[in-house]
Formats: sequence, C-alpha cells, structure tokens
Amino acid sequence: MKFIGLKRLTAILALLCCIPGINAKIEWQQVEPGVWKGIVGTPEDYSLLGVAGCTPLKEGFSRLPQAELPSIAPEVVAEVVNGKTHLRFPLDRNEQLYGFGLNFQTVHQRGKILNLHVDHYGGKDNGRTHAPVPFYISSNGYGVLINSARYLSVYAGSGARKDSPNAPVAKDRNTDKTWQSRPYSDAVSVLVPAEGAEIYLFAGPTPMDVVRRYNLLCGGGNLPPRWGLGFTQRTKTRYTADEVIAEADAFEQNGYPLDFIGLEPGWQSKAYPCTFEWDSTRYPNPQDFINSMKDRKVRINLWTNPYVSPDSKIYNEMYPVSGTHTVWCGIVPDFGTEKARELFKNKFDTEHLNIGVSGYKIDEIDGYDHYLWPDVATFPSGLDSEQMRQTYGLWVQRLTNDLFKKRNQRTFGLVRGSNAGGSSFPYVIYNDYYSHQDFITALINSGFSGVLWTPEVRSSKTPEEWLRRFQSVVFSPMAMINAWSSGTKPWSFPEVADQVKEYSLLRMQMMPYWYTEFARYHYDGIPPFRAMNLEPGFNIDKAVVKEVKEKNLDDNPYLEAVTKEIKDQYMAGEYLLVAPMFAGQTTRSVVLPQGDWYDFYTGEFVGNGEKIEVTPGLDKIPVFVKDGAIIPMMEPRLHAPAAGEKVNLEIRHYGKADGIYRLYDDDGETFNYENGDYSWREIKVERQKNGKLKGTISKPEKGKPNSFNEITWKFMTI
Ligand code: GAL
Repeated sequence: MKFIGLKRLTAILALLCCIPGINAKIEWQQVEPGVWKGIVGTPEDYSLLGVAGCTPLKEGFSRLPQAELPSIAPEVVAEVVNGKTHLRFPLDRNEQLYGFGLNFQTVHQRGKILNLHVDHYGGKDNGRTHAPVPFYISSNGYGVLINSARYLSVYAGSGARKDSPNAPVAKDRNTDKTWQSRPYSDAVSVLVPAEGAEIYLFAGPTPMDVVRRYNLLCGGGNLPPRWGLGFTQRTKTRYTADEVIAEADAFEQNGYPLDFIGLEPGWQSKAYPCTFEWDSTRYPNPQDFINSMKDRKVRINLWTNPYVSPDSKIYNEMYPVSGTHTVWCGIVPDFGTEKARELFKNKFDTEHLNIGVSGYKIDEIDGYDHYLWPDVATFPSGLDSEQMRQTYGLWVQRLTNDLFKKRNQRTFGLVRGSNAGGSSFPYVIYNDYYSHQDFITALINSGFSGVLWTPEVRSSKTPEEWLRRFQSVVFSPMAMINAWSSGTKPWSFPEVADQVKEYSLLRMQMMPYWYTEFARYHYDGIPPFRAMNLEPGFNIDKAVVKEVKEKNLDDNPYLEAVTKEIKDQYMAGEYLLVAPMFAGQTTRSVVLPQGDWYDFYTGEFVGNGEKIEVTPGLDKIPVFVKDGAIIPMMEPRLHAPAAGEKVNLEIRHYGKADGIYRLYDDDGETFNYENGDYSWREIKVERQKNGKLKGTISKPEKGKPNSFNEITWKFMTI
C-alpha cells in the first residue's frame, strides 16, 4: 500500500478554492445511490475506509428509496487554515444528532464537544472511546462521514459565529432570566488536523436509511456464522487444556448451551507482550486439545494483543517493521508495512488457524494512553502515531478476517478498538468498564456506527445482578460470560441458575430470528441492535413530551434533547423491543412506538404509542413485540446447527395484524452465500374469512441450502 501518492486534480482545484479565510462550498459527486463524496483541500491518502478496505455492497442500495442530494449540501462549507481543515455543517433548530461512535451515556449528541480518539472508554462521552467513528446521523434524515484517520475535534452544535444569520442574541445576565451559558449554535464544526478532508454525505429519507447507506458503503454489515450467535464462555486465564475440556463437559452435563470457548492470556507461553505461541505446560498438544473440543462441538477462540514479545519467534523479523516505542516492552508491528502484515498473518495462520482455531479476541489496541505508544512514536511506513492509533483496530480485524476468508470459513470474535469502515468485520467490541446501564446505552449507540457491542457478563455482587446482566446479554450480538478473572459459570449463582439456563436456551431457540436479522444487517445494512430513534413510528414527542417541563427550546434545543433521550431500551431485530432491568429495579417505564405492542412471553396487548410501567419480576426481562410480528424459532439446543444440519421451526405470530417475514438461510459457516448460495423464504400470516389466522411459508428453493424440517405455528395473541 502506498500512502504518499499522486494528488488528485480535483483536490488541487478544491485547494485553490480554499484560500484561507474564505469558506469554500464543496462539489458533491455521487458515488453510490444516495451517497455523495466531497473533497476539501488535499485529503491524506491514508484513511479509515482505505484501511478497512471497504467494497460497497452495491446490490443492497437497490432496496433503498431513490434519494436526492441532502438539502444541507450547498450550505456545507470548508476552509484550510494554517494547514488544518475547518468544516461546517448547518443545523436546524429542532434537529437532533446521533452517532459519533460508541458512546456509553448519551444517545443525543447535539451540543457535545468531542475529540474523536480511539481509547478505552474512560467514563465520559467525550469522543475517547473504542470506536470513535466520525459519522453522524441527523433526525432530519441525512448523515455525514469524515473519512480521516486523524484525531478530530467536533463541535456538534456548539460555538456561534458572529456572521451567522441564526446567531444568538446577546442577553443581559443581570436582568434576563433567559440568559444561557451556552448560547444557541447552528452548526456542527469539525477540525481536521490535515490539509484536506474527504467527506461523505448520506441521504435518507429516514435516519434508518442513512445508517443503511453507511453500512452498505462499508460492504454491508457482518453476517456471523450460526455458531457465533450461540453461547460463549471465556475461561479463567490460566486454565489448562484439561480444565477447559472439563468446563465444556460441565456445560453439557448441566444442560447449558455452548458454541465456543475463549482462552485468555494463559494459553500463550508469554503474554503482555505476546509470543502468539502455545504454552507447553498448559497446552502440551494444542492440536489434540482443539480436536477434543471439536468432538464436543465447541470451537476455540484465542485472546491476544498484538505486541510482540522478545521471546516470540517472529520478534527479530518484526523488529525492523515496528514502531519506535514499545507496549509492555513488546514491539508494535507497523501494519502500514506489507512485511509486518505478512509476518503477523503467517504466524496466526500456520500456528492457529491450521490446527482449527475458530477466531480471536484482539485486546488492548484502543488504550489506555499509559499503556500504548505515545503520540511522538514513529513508524517505518511513515505513518504518524495518531494515524496508527486511529486505525490499529481496523488493521487487526482486516488481517485476521482475510485469513479466515481465504479458507472459506466464517469467524466471529472480539476486538476492543474499531473505527469507520468496520461494519462488515466479524467482530464485537467489549471493554473493562462494567456499568450495566451504560452497556445498554453502548448497545444502542453501536447501531449508529456500524459496530457491534456486547454487554458481557463477568461477575456480580448478587444473584439478582447476575440474572439481570445475563438477561441483557442474551439480547445482544454476542451472548457471553467473560470469566477470565472471576472463573464464573452460568450456574455460579444457584438461586438463579434455572432462570439463566432458560434464557441461554431461549437465545438458542431464537437463532433463526437472530440469524435472519444479521442477514438483514449484511444485505440491507439494517443494524440488528439499535436505538428507538431509528424505529418508524417512534414519536418520542407524543410519548414523552407531556412529562417534559416547558423550556426555552428555541434558544437551547440540546437541553430538550438531554431530557428526552431514550437510552435504556432498544430494538432487537425487526420486531422486538427490549427494556432491560437493572439490579435494584422492580419496575420501570417503557416508551412504546406508535402501533399495537404485545408481550413477548404471553402475547398479551400492552399498549400503543405510549409510556407504560412494567413490573416483570426477577424471572423476566421485558420484551415487547410489534403487531403482526413473525418470529421464527427452533427447538432448544446446546449447539448451533452445523452446515447442512436441519432443525424444526416454530413460527410465532404476535398481535392481530397480518404479517410477512423473509426467513434467511445459507450453510451458516462458509462464504458461499457471496456466490448466491442462500435463500429467503417468505413467511406469511393472514386472517382467513372465518376470522382465524393462518400461516404459510414458501417452499425451499431448489438447489439452495435448506436448514429446516418440520414447521409448526404458534399464534401468541388469542
Ligand atoms: C483485558 C480484557 C479482558 C481480559 C483481560 C485479560 O484487557 O479487557 O476482557 O481479556 O484483558 O488479561
């Protein structure tokens, strides 16, 4: 890859327009349906989408509505000042903003000042996070991506220009009660510390359409293997092969599902920094170990960080293609060089994938600052430390993904850092933070940024907390206990062991639904877990406004935004609204979008476009279902069905309305779906003349995968 390449003619022309002090308008060029690119100054060749290696999923755009260039386009202005690029995007008074990466405490971003910087989340939504994706979505139905691998300063509706037609009016604080410390701002301003920027504008018309276009531009969302959606346990860090095997056996004996086990640092001969080599005392025969696990239908995932120990066999060769600074005294591969990429890939391929390792957890690529290389580090490729920091997570995902893809084998793993362009990577983000509430807000925000997030369960102070956390993780992209330190098992709290089992089995029963929803992520760019704000009919004003005290919203719309955001309930796939309970809570409120909603467990009507109070008891996480919903489920099992294996389907229908759902199917393990080896079967529920509901499903397509045997119907609402 070449980073300092030919500068494009358009870029030079654009630069000429950007004489310091003059705001230049941007020429917008349509690159995909409903996606436009604009160049300001001379953008750097090294970019987020470039590192991610995105190839747009062109076919997916055909299912989106026709779209015009967003109306803000002519008002987007830019200038290059003293070697830095200033960008300005207009805002309406009542506009709300979502996105800007994996935030943990807020969904509404208007009014924020963020420094987008890859880091371990530090307890504040200030831009330093695992995936500080420079992409935002407006409630007005357009989106903006700044494709820069720099630390970006974002003023998301903060800062007022003196020449703005919407400039706030000065008030006298001494006498005027409406004086505000943060006067109204009519723009998102972004500082890019480079002499240019590449910007993408996404059309709607709805915020969901914007997100879809973004994910499709990045290659479509990730489609995990079926087993990736089963249950996973990460074992205690220094477990031996025998202990891991015993753990898998205990899951089986106790009747808890398990599809893959993650080994933590102790599988390696040395860790922090890493050798990437098996520890011969704990794992004397890795191949035999992996085979024994395979016999038990359990795959193996390996933890690692990318920092190379002086004791690793690749250390000497990696040394010249690593950065100037070390991390825990390990060298930092410069993934900007072909040689470092090849050394890394080759090691993993020959020593892990070759013996049947199914995936990775790639740790410590995000931060903290004290751990990682400082910004004064330099790299042989000539990339800046800052560029390396912003893209290291993308690199490790891309490199490992390539290895599995070459083998025509899907993987699903964990990573602690990512960025724009990562939508199609088979990775879920996690971290060391442990607020259950904030984990749910992160899950909500992940859907705005083309990343997946798991509210992993580690340990708990009480059985109640254990069960509450467990219920949430079952309704997330990766159902996981991370027992690397605690050694907990699903049955660690006997008081709630049965409920935990029931929920892990429910996760398995719902696999046909989860799998289809991930297929929609892939083919249509629809995030499987997402904010209520992306839900049609979610009229937050109608549902909540009664409770909000009148404020001077004209002057300060972001105050309103903070009051009204919904950050503790989310959509899981097309039909389900999940409202997690947190330890200590016995009752909570849930805001239902317009339309009739039903209880997931009983099928009973619960409300329509209103706020309801629920008291579910400890045994249940509140889950609600849209009218006409069709949820395909299978029998409870301990392992995901293997390629070619057939399961029986139970198709549930909720509510009174007719319904249509397209059930996705492929072999669940390979990339053959990329060559057309998949099918969608249409499920319909229609009311008959006699008033009864009847379900039908289209025949399996000839010559296409068919994973389903007998089909039964369950009409949940009588
Ligand atoms: C942390 C990681 C944990 C666990 C641990 C092992 O950085 O977030 O999940 O893997 O390392 O040392």
